[in-house]
Amino acid sequence: MRLQDKVAIIMGAGQAPGASGAIGNGRATACVFAREAAKVCCVDRNLDSAKETAALIAKEGGDAIAWAADVTEEAAVVAAIAGCFDRWGRIDILHNNVGISVEGGDAPLAEITPETFQRIMNVNLCGAMLACKHVLPIMRAQAGGVILNVASAAAYWTAYPNVVYPASKAGMVTLTRQLAMQNAGYGIRANAILPGRMDTPMAVDRRVEATGRSRAEIVAERDATVPLRGKMGTGWDVAYAALFLASDEARFITGVELPVDGGALARVG
Ligand SMILES: NC(=O)c1ccc[n+]([C@@H]2O[C@H](COP(=O)([O-])OP(=O)(O)OC[C@H]3O[C@@H](n4cnc5c(N)ncnc54)[C@H](O)[C@@H]3O)[C@@H](O)[C@H]2O)c1
Repeated sequence: MRLQDKVAIIMGAGQAPGASGAIGNGRATACVFAREAAKVCCVDRNLDSAKETAALIAKEGGDAIAWAADVTEEAAVVAAIAGCFDRWGRIDILHNNVGISVEGGDAPLAEITPETFQRIMNVNLCGAMLACKHVLPIMRAQAGGVILNVASAAAYWTAYPNVVYPASKAGMVTLTRQLAMQNAGYGIRANAILPGRMDTPMAVDRRVEATGRSRAEIVAERDATVPLRGKMGTGWDVAYAALFLASDEARFITGVELPVDGGALARVG
């Protein structure tokens, strides 16, 4: 029970639909937090998906609520945070998991429009900033809390084909460091998680639908880029990294970026 008496709010706690049965990073994290006794507020722009996550938690005997909010709308973010606080009287963990890429229209530079750039930045980076902005007064009053920002190894991948997603995730890493320094005096920690190639519905099933290629082919292509055993990770790998960083075991760790990528970022050349 590594998160006993903790309250967590997870932005993007649903997941993209997919036929494979794979679990998304946010949903897996919500489940793992609840298994470790955290109370979990599952926030997503897709309320049905947030409800599915809360129902999975309830089925395992955990305590969760679902909340609809689009993280680009400040009033909706404020309402979600207030809903969580009103229910449990505190917020110990903010997990910013929302992220979009090709579904937001990401593309190589020559094809990017300012509208696309702003849309993806708004969801991936501004959304996280808004959640931090409105959770921090609660955490400061409590003299403690943990912020986890889900960035991506793509923040460093120069071979990545599209431009906005990696830029937004690089921004997430720097935002995390700023958050860590500006709030360390209040006992609040902020760390970034950098997933590599994960087998989630968003990353694989959606690509199968978009390209018409087989799942096996896309999986093999992604597996081949992973040094560790040549296999992608799963949402559970992100969840267990998040669990460690959220728990008191990581009480002296702030301002770091933790790759969860099977060694992808360690490879040079
Ligand atoms: N899957 C990967 O290979 C991979 C790799 C690196 C980083 N990541 C990051 O991990 C995170 C989760 O990835 P995933 O593959 O589980 O994706 P996912 O799409 O299944 O999960 C993201 C959730 O965010 C929600 N969401 C999207 N826009 C929103 C908005 N404006 N407001 C509120 N909710 C919104 C979606 O409905 C979805 O439930 C993302 O930040 C992604 O960039 C994923």
